Amino acid sequence: MFKPLFRVILLTVLCIFLLSYSEVEEQRVTDMKLLWGAVDIPPKIAADYIHTVIDAHRRFYSQHIVDRLAKTQSLQATEDWAHEGTLLLPDQFLLASSQTANNQGIGMRYRLMSLWPINERNAPKSELEKIGLKAVVDNPKEPFTWIVDKGSSQYFQAIYPDFAVAQSCTSCHNNHAKSPRNNFKMGDVMGGIIINLPLGKRKVSKVDLKVLLPPEVVANYIHSVVASHRHVYSKYIVDRLQDKNILRSTENWLQEKALPLPAQFLMETSQVVRDRRLGLDFRLISLQPINRSNGPANEFERVGLEAVEVHPARPYIGQTRLGGRDIFQAIYPDLAVSQGCIACHNAHPQSPKKDYKMNDVMGGIVVTLYLQ
Ligand code: HEC
Ligand code: HEC
Repeated sequence: MFKPLFRVILLTVLCIFLLSYSEVEEQRVTDMKLLWGAVDIPPKIAADYIHTVIDAHRRFYSQHIVDRLAKTQSLQATEDWAHEGTLLLPDQFLLASSQTANNQGIGMRYRLMSLWPINERNAPKSELEKIGLKAVVDNPKEPFTWIVDKGSSQYFQAIYPDFAVAQSCTSCHNNHAKSPRNNFKMGDVMGGIIINLPLGKRKVSKVDLKVLLPPEVVANYIHSVVASHRHVYSKYIVDRLQDKNILRSTENWLQEKALPLPAQFLMETSQVVRDRRLGLDFRLISLQPINRSNGPANEFERVGLEAVEVHPARPYIGQTRLGGRDIFQAIYPDLAVSQGCIACHNAHPQSPKKDYKMNDVMGGIVVTLYLQ
């Protein structure tokens, strides 16, 4: 007589158990989404990061390489640098780095352009780009952003103003035979840096902060910009001028009126970016550093450096904590790409490793994104 009742009770208990269990499961899934969703980055923030890194390099190169060496060494930056044994113009430096980054095929692209270009290829390529450039000329406080559909994919685009920050900007452009404008003044917006970020095939009609980019994608973009500038600086400035016996790069570059070492070039620009306090940082580190402060800062960085030594084809990524804050980090291998790298490190009295060979992993570029 109790049997059916017992069955009902048993079934009810079972149902309650299953229901509460699935609730727990569901709860766990939303927790995960919250955790991962919260770390994704709006494209506007990603573009701000990328622009800050480009701008830091542009300023450091203009002020501490071009302007300083013009004064201390009478070494000029000229348009025909390849034949004249001179420095690349700041604009050519940015163009070379953007070509290097754009050719890596990671989707992100950037370039320098203007409504009054000396070189026609730096003119706006669409009506929208023209509108965007006019907008930043009229209101340089804000970058101009929009989303464009290019058929196969949608792109987030942002144009940031490029200012006449030195007398040399205005005097060279105003006097250049091919310049369509000759009344630039200090502080004027002379053009803009456009940044393109692919968003995929989602249909978004207006700039929508709901479209987010995973942090590893944003870290890849930052790394690409840093590595491209590092490459252009090493190849077109340090190696070329050293090979031609025009100027050397030395550790005490400021006192010796020389070029900063490639590592110092990266560190100086990373300091500029850090000072902006945007929640973005990048550094050059190594397990065998010449400068002990370039060693790994935490366990994650140590394991990551070991990992990219074994698998240099992919970055080591993950979330960790630093100074009480949640951070996302990605570590990319830094390779011995020239004889100069290994000759100098192997001979340096403070270097703990003396047997680097070509293409060895000498350390890593670590990109850190502070999560909100
Ligand atoms: C010694 C001459 C010289 C100096 C100094 C110079 N530029 Fe240029 N600039 C050029 C030349 C030449 C180009 C075209 C490069 C190319 O072939 O793409 C250019 C390109 C540009 C462009 C892209 C549009 C265009 O005109 O083709 C912008 C924007 C620009 N410069 C802004 C600046 C700013 C800002 C500064 C100062 C930080 C500066 N320039 C310093 C000569 C100069
Ligand atoms: C003329 C000497 C010289 C050359 C050339 C040179 N380096 Fe360095 N490198 C240094 C010095 C000195 C430091 C330490 C800078 C500091 O932080 O004070 C350094 C720092 C580094 C670091 C950070 C860890 C450390 O050792 O402190 C890495 C990684 C690195 N270099 C890799 C390279 C690579 C790759 C190349 C070639 C593209 C290269 N270096 C070319 C001298 C050189």
